[in-house]
Amino acid sequence: MELLAIEGKVHDEIRQGEAFEPISPIGAFKKHFYIESYGCAMNFSDTEIVASILQKGGYGATKNLEEADLIFVNTCSIREKAEATVRKRLTEFRKLKENRKGVLVGVLGCMAERLKSKLLEEEKLVDIVVGPDSYRSLPALIEKAETGQKAVNVLLSREETYADISPVRLDSNGVSAFVSIMRGCNNMCSFCVVPFTRGRERSRDPHSIIAESEELFHKNGFKEITLLGQNVDSYYWYNDDTKTAVTFADLLERVASISPLLRVRFSTSHPKDITDDVLHVMARFENICNHIHLPIQSGSTRLLQLMNRTYSREWYLAKVDKIKQILPDCTLTADIIAGFCTETEEDHQETLSAMEYCGYDMSYMYIYSERPGTLAAKRFEDDVPMEVKKRRLQEIVDLQGKLSTKGNLNDIGQVFKVLIEGDSKRSAEDWTGRTPQNKHVVFKKGTKELQKGDYVLVKITNCTRATLLGEILINNN
Ligand code: SAH
Ligand code: SF4
Ligand code: F3S
Repeated sequence: MELLAIEGKVHDEIRQGEAFEPISPIGAFKKHFYIESYGCAMNFSDTEIVASILQKGGYGATKNLEEADLIFVNTCSIREKAEATVRKRLTEFRKLKENRKGVLVGVLGCMAERLKSKLLEEEKLVDIVVGPDSYRSLPALIEKAETGQKAVNVLLSREETYADISPVRLDSNGVSAFVSIMRGCNNMCSFCVVPFTRGRERSRDPHSIIAESEELFHKNGFKEITLLGQNVDSYYWYNDDTKTAVTFADLLERVASISPLLRVRFSTSHPKDITDDVLHVMARFENICNHIHLPIQSGSTRLLQLMNRTYSREWYLAKVDKIKQILPDCTLTADIIAGFCTETEEDHQETLSAMEYCGYDMSYMYIYSERPGTLAAKRFEDDVPMEVKKRRLQEIVDLQGKLSTKGNLNDIGQVFKVLIEGDSKRSAEDWTGRTPQNKHVVFKKGTKELQKGDYVLVKITNCTRATLLGEILINNN
C-alpha cells in the first residue's frame, strides 16, 4: 500500500528505511532513540505514533546513530526481500552494539509480529520485539530490557487504533500528512501476510480523525491529508445509538468539509469495497483529489479467484468504467503481481490487456514472493520459474512505462492546480508539487512570491516518464 506515486517503479525493494530530524535538542531527554521505517505508509505513520509514545516516556529522537541509546527498526514482511533488507541492516547494528555497551535494539512492526520471539533466537542482538498493536507498552519494555532481559509484546488487538495519540510528524515537508483511519485487514488475499501481521480490521473514532485533521490544517499549517488504511473503504464506525454509522464516504465528506483549501487523498482502496457513494463524494468536492489507487493484482479471473480477491476481471473493469463515468479526469494506479502460483502465459496476457484497458498512470509491480503461513503457501505450489516471473514482470514494467508516458503526454497543454511541496530535488530555482491526479510537477519559481503550501495554476509544457514539467500561469491563492 505504498502511497507516494513514483512512476512505474518495481517495488521489490520497498522504500528505504529513513531516519528523521531530531525533534528536540539533545540533552532535554533522559535517553535518545533512533528509528528507521520500512514498508508501507501505514508503517511510516505508525513510526510517528511510536515517536509520540517514546517522547512522552522521556525519550528524545535523534537522527544520529552514534548518539542513540535505543535503536528501533519498524519492519515489513510483505515480501521475502523486505525481510532480507531488515536482516542485513540488523547485522550493521550488531557491529555498532559490540562497540558501544548499553545500546538496545528493538524490532517493531510486521516482522516482529510474524516472527515473534523466534526473532530473538535468530537475531541475537535484538533486545525488544514489539508488534503493531503493542506500541503503548514500549516504555515498559524498554525498562525491562534495560535490566538485561529480553522484552517481547506481540499481542494483537481488536480495538487498538491509537486514536488518542498525537503523532509526532517526522521528516515532514510541513505540507502533507498521513492520518490513519483504520487498522488491520479481514480480506485474506491468499498471497498476503498482512492479515497475520496487522490483525483484524478496526476503524478509528471519527471525532478523533476530524480533530487531528483540523489541528493539522488550522494549527500546524498542513494543506494535504492522506487518509490511511489497509482498506480505507471498509471504514465503518457505529454511532453511540448503535443504529446509525459513519461510512468511508461520510468520513471523506467530513474531512473535505474542513476547508476547501485542504486537499484530501486516501489509500488503499480494495476494488470490492469502493462504493459509488465514495465516487459521488469525490465528484462533489473539488478538494478531494481525483486519484484512486486500485490494486488489480492480476487480470485473469482464474488467478483472482486463487488469490481470493473476491472480484473477477469483468467486475474490476466495470468498476473502472464507473470511476471514469463519475470522475472523468480521475487517474488510476495499481499494484500488480507477476508469476503467482499456476499463472500461465494466457493469464499473464490478461494482466497486460487489463492494464491497457485501465490505462494506469503508475503501478507498483512485484514478483510473487511466497510468504510462510499464508493460504497460498499452504494450498498452492509456487510453480512459476524465477526466469519466467522476471520476464513477465519486465513486460509489465515496459507496458507501464508506455502507459505512463502516454498519460503524461496527454497532460501537455493542460492546466492543473498544483500544491507546492518544496524545492525540486535538482534545483532550488524550481518548485515541485503534485496535481490532484497525484502526478509530480516541476516548474520554475519565477518572480512570483510563493512558498511551499501555496496552490498555483501550472500549465504543462513537457514531461519525462516520471514527471510533468510546466510553467506558472497565475498565483491561485
Ligand atoms: N491492502 C493493500 C495492499 C497492501 S500490500 C491492498 O489490498 O491494496 C501492497 C501490495 O503488495 C499488494 O497490493 C500486492 O500487490 C503486494 N503483495 C502482497 N503480498 C505479496 C506477495 N506475497 N508477493 C508479492 N507481492 C505481494
Ligand atoms: Fe493484503 Fe489483501 Fe488485505 Fe491488501 S486486502 S492487505 S493484499 S490481504
Ligand atoms: Fe505494510 Fe509491510 Fe506490514 S506493507 S502492513 S509494513 S507487511
